[in-house]
Formats: sequence, C-alpha cells, structure tokens
Amino acid sequence: MARKLLVTGGCGFIGSNFISYWFSRYPKDSITNLDALTYAGHLSSTAHFADNKNYHFIKGSILNKRVVERAMKDVDIVVHFAAESHVDRSIKNPTLFLETNVLGTQVLLESALRNKIKRFHHISTDEVYGALEFNTGEKFSEETSYRPRSPYAASKAASDHLVQSYAHTFGLPTTITNCSNNFGPFQDPEKFIPRLITNCIEDRKVMLYGDGLNVRDWLHVEDHCRAIDLVITKGSINNTYCIGGQVDEVSNLEVATRVLNYFNKSTDQIAFVTDRLGHDRRYAVNWTKIRTELGWKPRYQFDEWLTATIKWYEENTAWWRPLKERAEKLYR
Ligand code: NAD
Ligand code: DAU
Repeated sequence: MARKLLVTGGCGFIGSNFISYWFSRYPKDSITNLDALTYAGHLSSTAHFADNKNYHFIKGSILNKRVVERAMKDVDIVVHFAAESHVDRSIKNPTLFLETNVLGTQVLLESALRNKIKRFHHISTDEVYGALEFNTGEKFSEETSYRPRSPYAASKAASDHLVQSYAHTFGLPTTITNCSNNFGPFQDPEKFIPRLITNCIEDRKVMLYGDGLNVRDWLHVEDHCRAIDLVITKGSINNTYCIGGQVDEVSNLEVATRVLNYFNKSTDQIAFVTDRLGHDRRYAVNWTKIRTELGWKPRYQFDEWLTATIKWYEENTAWWRPLKERAEKLYR
C-alpha cells in the first residue's frame, strides 16, 4: 500500500538525496518536503523530482506549530533531517542550533504524537558520542555514552534524548540513526570534501585545519539512504542504529592529497590554517548492529566514490557556483 512520508529538510544535502532515493525505490509513495530554505536549503537540489505528482513542497519552519500540523496531516512516516548541521557555524552562533535542532524537533514530536504517526525516524550523528583518540582501535556503537563536544553535537544529543523520551513516556513509535560523515552530490561547498573539490576546480588553495591529521569515517550518501530505508521498513521500534563507512581510516590530509592527485596538483596547494575550536580528533563507527539485524553494509568504496563525487562537482558547476562565495565568506 502506498505510504505518505513527511520529510523535513528535504532541500538539504542528505534530505534531497533521500527523496530521490525513496522515489526510485517506492514510486507509489507520496512525499511532503517541509523545508525552511535556510542558507543550506536549495530548490536546485530538488529540481530533478520537483515535477513528480507524488511530491509536495511546503516552505516553512519546523519551529512553526501551525505549519508543522498542516504538513503532518495523514502522514504515515516522518523522516526528520531538518537541522543546522555545520559545526563551524555552531561555534559562531550556538543559539540557532538549539532553536532548530532541539525546539524544532520537539514541535515535530508533539505533532507526530497528536497525529498518531506510525513511525518517527530521527536522523542523527555519530558526533553525539564525542571523539576518539588516534590508534586506539576504539569505535562508537549504540552502547557508547553520549559526550557531545560542540554546540552542534550537544544540540543533536538533546534532540536524540527528546525523541527517546517521547517513545518512552508517550509511546511514540520512533527510530534513530547515528551516522558518520557523508559525502556525495548536492553537499554544500562549505563542508570539507565539496570545499576541497571546488577549491581545486577554482585553483584556490585547499584549507586544512590544524595539522590535518583528524580522521572522519566517510560514507557515501546513498549508502546512508539505504540504511535509513532498512531501519524504517525493517528496524525495531524505539531502537537506535549506528551507521558508518570506511574500514581503513583516512585523515583529512590523506583525503586532500587524493583530491589534489586527481587534479594533478601538488600538496604545495595545501594551506594549514587555524584549527577549529574543540576540534574532534577521530570518529569511527562500529556498524555491527545494523549489519547483523538488517543486513546493511556500505556498497560504495571510498576511493571510487570520491572520484565519482569529484566528477559530479566538475559536471554540476551551475549547482554549486552560486553557493561558493557565501561558503568562502564564512571562513574569512
Ligand atoms: P544540510 O545543512 O545540508 O540541510 C539541512 C536542511 O534543513 C536544509 O535544507 C535547511 O533549509 C533545512 N532546515 C534548517 N532549519 C530548518 C527549519 N527550522 N525548518 C525546516 N527546515 C530547516 O544538512 P545535511 O548535511 O543534509 O544533514 C541532514 C541531517 O543529517 C541533519 O540532521 C544532520 O545533523 C544529520 N547528519 C548529517 C551528516 C553529514 O555528514 N552531513 C552526518 C550524520 C548526520
Ligand atoms: O560526523 C557526522 C558529522 O559530519 C555531521 O553530523 C555534520 O552535520 C557534518 O557537517 C560533519 O561534521 P564535520 O565537522 O566532521 O564535517 P566538516 O565537513 O565540517 O569537516 C570534516 C573535517 O574536515 C573536520 O575534521 C574539519 C576538517 N575541515 C573542514 C573544512 C570545512 C578542514 O580541515 N578544512 C575545511 O575547510
């Protein structure tokens, strides 16, 4: 039977990839996308499915109770992506992160409860678990204690707690996924990998924070979308699933070197710049639970998909060029 989804933040990076993914897999379902079109939301990221008769767009904020109530009508499944998502911005303006990520999530939870939603799926991050030391072999898992270290991570941790509290106290059927760093098409050029690629295309220096040795656990966005699909359709209610990518760890310096190599540029193009305040050293995710319970594993190898992503940015300059100056201004 066709289902009705409410996707929040569907004009952002992962949300827009998720809607494309969902329509290709479940063409009969209908999707309402509620997005405030902040600096991170782009209608150009939804142009390829905007004409689908099963797609509806509402421009509005998850903080607006009236708009949320309207968007929630007759919905079966909520997939909640909308958030302020950039750590550097959370250091400059933490308040906005608390408003959107915490209060906005609570508005959605209230409305989901009132409208007897069958599933509220909350998209979260591995950053709620804090940071890991180098060379310890340690990884985050569903059992790891929450130790958020940036205002962004703290706001996401608070939103996870709220989701769990609505499940426990009010019986709202929820699931949460805590995912590592995504990369792929339609990621805003303010984030590391697209900034790196677009700086290379524009012959700018590439910027590495601190010593460049920080490690992230990179996952292609489509693998993330497949994992969300499995959790929504087969995951156990009121459960959390950790999602991660890489088996071999790569530092930011290593990622930058591989991108520079693709463009036949030397590492002289790297500028080591002032480190991010409180910069987390290493993230790594143990995704055994989702593998054993739901049969998920990343389909895409990092190197292959890094190349595919570079090519996407080379071929889609019309998408990112209008966003590039604003993104670079953030770092001045
Ligand atoms: P993004 O910044 O690219 O997109 C966020 C979207 O939310 C934008 O379209 C924006 O307009 C919208 N939005 C912001 N405030 C809103 C509001 N008040 N009301 C309605 N819409 C609003 O973010 P992303 O990278 O696609 O991340 C999506 C979700 O996934 C976030 O919850 C983030 O915490 C989580 N996440 C991201 C990553 C990653 O690597 N990007 C990894 C793990 C989890
Ligand atoms: O781990 C999941 C998280 O990944 C998500 O929850 C966040 O929404 C998402 O933004 C991302 O957070 P990071 O802070 O890890 O991503 P970012 O792309 O900002 O930075 C990745 C790494 O690269 C980090 O170590 C900081 C570094 N960096 C970033 C930029 C923009 C640089 O060295 N130079 C840069 O220019």
